[in-house]
Amino acid sequence: MQQQEFQKIYNQSIQDPEKFWADVASEEIEWGKKWDKVFEWNFPNYQWFVGGKLNITHNCLDRHIKNGLGDKIAFIYTNENYGRIAITYAELLLQVNKFANGLKSLGVKKGDRVVLYMPLVIEQIVAMLGCTRIGAVHSVVFAGFSDKALRERIEDLQAKVVVTATWTLRRGAKKELLPTVEDAVKKLECMEKVIVLDRDAVAARHGAPSKGGMPRHATTRRIDYNRLLENQSDTCNPEVMDSEDPLFVLYTSGSTGKPKGIVHTVGGYSVYTHYTTKKVFNLHQDSIFWCTADPGWITGHSYIVYGPLSNGITSVIVEGVPDYPAPDHWYKIIEEEKVNVFYTSPTAIRMLRKHGEEYCQKHNLSSLKVLGTVGEPINPEVWQWYNKYIGNGQCAIVDTWWQTETGGHMIVTLPGLPQKPGIAGLPFFGIEADVVNQEGQNVPAGEKGFLVIKKPWPSALRTCLNNQGRFNQYWNEIKGVYFTGDFAIKDADGYIQILGRSDDVINISGHRIGTAEVENALVAHPAVSEAAVIPKPDEIKGERMKAFLVLKDTALASEDLIKKIKFHMRHEIAAIAVPDEIEFVPSLPKTRSGKIMRRVLKAQELGQPVGDLTVLDK
Ligand code: WTA
Repeated sequence: MQQQEFQKIYNQSIQDPEKFWADVASEEIEWGKKWDKVFEWNFPNYQWFVGGKLNITHNCLDRHIKNGLGDKIAFIYTNENYGRIAITYAELLLQVNKFANGLKSLGVKKGDRVVLYMPLVIEQIVAMLGCTRIGAVHSVVFAGFSDKALRERIEDLQAKVVVTATWTLRRGAKKELLPTVEDAVKKLECMEKVIVLDRDAVAARHGAPSKGGMPRHATTRRIDYNRLLENQSDTCNPEVMDSEDPLFVLYTSGSTGKPKGIVHTVGGYSVYTHYTTKKVFNLHQDSIFWCTADPGWITGHSYIVYGPLSNGITSVIVEGVPDYPAPDHWYKIIEEEKVNVFYTSPTAIRMLRKHGEEYCQKHNLSSLKVLGTVGEPINPEVWQWYNKYIGNGQCAIVDTWWQTETGGHMIVTLPGLPQKPGIAGLPFFGIEADVVNQEGQNVPAGEKGFLVIKKPWPSALRTCLNNQGRFNQYWNEIKGVYFTGDFAIKDADGYIQILGRSDDVINISGHRIGTAEVENALVAHPAVSEAAVIPKPDEIKGERMKAFLVLKDTALASEDLIKKIKFHMRHEIAAIAVPDEIEFVPSLPKTRSGKIMRRVLKAQELGQPVGDLTVLDK
């Protein structure tokens, strides 16, 4: 897109956002019934396409089949070991219908919550779409979270069913998932059934050696995924959903307390993810798209599942890490599948860069046209490397800033617009973003401030599950605008550079984790009396975590204790919550009112000026 054209459409979209989004919604999405009103805003709550009826799986599957694309490949799955599995749109619909009918046979109805704890396999996507087909609300939990974290989410959701798999692949080894799920659901009253994908059986069908069979000691609640689907009909009419019916809940970390369940609804999310996928990645009907995220995070929801399927394109999904079994594993896939659009995180790019460009140079990557990045700020030199060695200087590099809460891309450099390495770009159509001070006033170009969004957009979160108060905070932190929690700088051309979080959230390898959440879990260890966590720059992960711990009098500092605390954190939350460094200290710097002054610890650690210490309790 040329700059002039962009500016023209952007101006129109801001002058009359309701007309803009109504046009997009009419042109791009099929509705069972059109909306009565495009937008309604009763601060802080808002609705989009009010009174509209639709089902997102119709737009993702049925309509393409109706338009003659049934034989087109929807997903190509590959991993470290067993080659390639492709599924067409028509086959995917049959699987989704069977899964949907399977859920119905278990008594799952519209509005019921279903938790997924699965690896990135086609069956995971089938399960997500199977839920939305019947209006059940899915909540995908990344299959790296601990039993405790999983249990908390299941309880908050009061989910009836969990869908899982026996294992996932991690650097050539099978990592068991089922024991974690079994621990998580023990004596949980809401939980009725655990649907288990037997991956040895699936692998055997695709030529891998099989040990076969489900693990023994099956509980009565456990149901085999394939057996559940076996006798189900492959037709299932999509449930008629209201635009504002919930589509899914996805948990994310905030600056205080427990993770919050971000609620997205059907209509606005359908429109926004469809349209951003199409425009930001400059899609054509024959585009081959590869987003390297996992559906355990929002990027996977919007840009592996819903956006790409709604656009009817072919996607590649890969279970595993970038550099196993070899450092050129991902390049090999790009070459073999002739990927046109590649969307990944700065952490992954830094990892590939560390292995060296000789690995990209071994492969023909000339199919690539658009290279995307998401999750954390990209360092200009990493941007340049991505452009030069993976893009061969011939691709558009699209940096995309957005959040779990925003549902889709908010600040981007659309393909064709002038690129500025390390600077995310311009607000997307219909988005009014700004950089302001604490009082909500604009800060001058070039100065640091808080990134805010001035008005609701179609895929904005609608609430936090069971906690409207936390939702209200987004719109009240700076009165009247959506508070993103990020620091940013706007330049004279209106380009916005994201500097990182302004709140107590750390971004490790593009994944959010709240310092409060980590500190609470650290203090839950029997040896720990007090804890403070700070982020430190990390060459690969962007940020790393350092924990300062005050031990109880009864505990002795030792290497062994550090190991035990790390193990404890893995069990309490997940591997991403394990501090990279742990230092035992006699006390923590605090204000006179007893608040831990993390900024003092951070400044001391990084050798920076400590700043104003008048409130420090000496
Ligand atoms: C950060 C991920 C800089 C940011 C989609 C945001 C980014 C948080 C970028 C949301 C980017 C995301 N440049 N920072 N392109 N994209 N972030 O909810 O701090 O997992 O607030 O959503 O990631 O993380 P979340």
